[in-house]
Amino acid sequence: MRICITADLHYDIARSRPSTERLAVRACRTGAEGASGDALVLVGDTAGAALEPLREALALFDTFPGRRLLVPGNHCLWCRPGETSLDRYERILPEIAAEAGFAVLDHAPVVVEGVGLVGSIGWYDYSLRDESLGIPEPFYRAKVAPGAAARLDEHRPLVAAHADELTPRHMAIAARWMDGANVRLGMSDEQFTAMLARKLAQQLDDLAPRVDHIVAFIHHLPFRELVPADRPDRFAFAAAFMGAASLGEVLRAHPKVTHIYCGHSHWHDRQTIDGRTVVNIGSTYTDKRLEVLDL
Ligand SMILES: [Fe+2]
Ligand SMILES: [Fe+2]
Repeated sequence: MRICITADLHYDIARSRPSTERLAVRACRTGAEGASGDALVLVGDTAGAALEPLREALALFDTFPGRRLLVPGNHCLWCRPGETSLDRYERILPEIAAEAGFAVLDHAPVVVEGVGLVGSIGWYDYSLRDESLGIPEPFYRAKVAPGAAARLDEHRPLVAAHADELTPRHMAIAARWMDGANVRLGMSDEQFTAMLARKLAQQLDDLAPRVDHIVAFIHHLPFRELVPADRPDRFAFAAAFMGAASLGEVLRAHPKVTHIYCGHSHWHDRQTIDGRTVVNIGSTYTDKRLEVLDL
């Protein structure tokens, strides 16, 4: 079977649209050249809060000849007024996916040609943060670096509360993680991550006895090894939001998981971790990448 995989299409962003359209043509053609039992997986951040760009992006793959599967990304949980991220995750995105002939893999693993496919948005619990920065944890919870917090009325009290611990280096980091303003989970990041880890573990337990091997698609990074090192401080701050080691532990517990694909960091990477092939798709806003796995 052939699996075509891409991620981070960000079709709601103008500069992402031409490259996404080119990639969709290529994916549909590549699928048509494969053996029977093809699957297409979009591994997160297909679009953002507005739903029409998501519908438009999914429609680009109308002619893909096989199973069409969607894994949401953090941008897919950005809310419009009155929405909650959990409702988007559990109800709104699956409905839109179904209208377009896609299924949200997070909610129902599939078996194609004897291969198990599982998916999860994954999330972050700050476990992949760069400890060497020494930024106090409350700044990660608020999703603002100290330099940004000092300029924002709502976050300035945080700077005052931690004045003794903050250094000039900290204050020079003016980054924000915009999920802080756009995601409404109704629970902490740690709780959401733990919920996803339990769900993935249950799905793998159910699937493993029925298949010879499993391919996993996780939007966020499940392994610290995938977090780009030696980056400028604003990216080092963002490492906290790249993923969660607990998701990686769930995958490591299942020897039948032979391939793992993720996205999110927009940083292409391919590694062997614990004997498994781990690929970060690495689409950027202007260049979209397609991975093809023939099994
Ligand atoms: Fe992305
Ligand atoms: Fe993302």
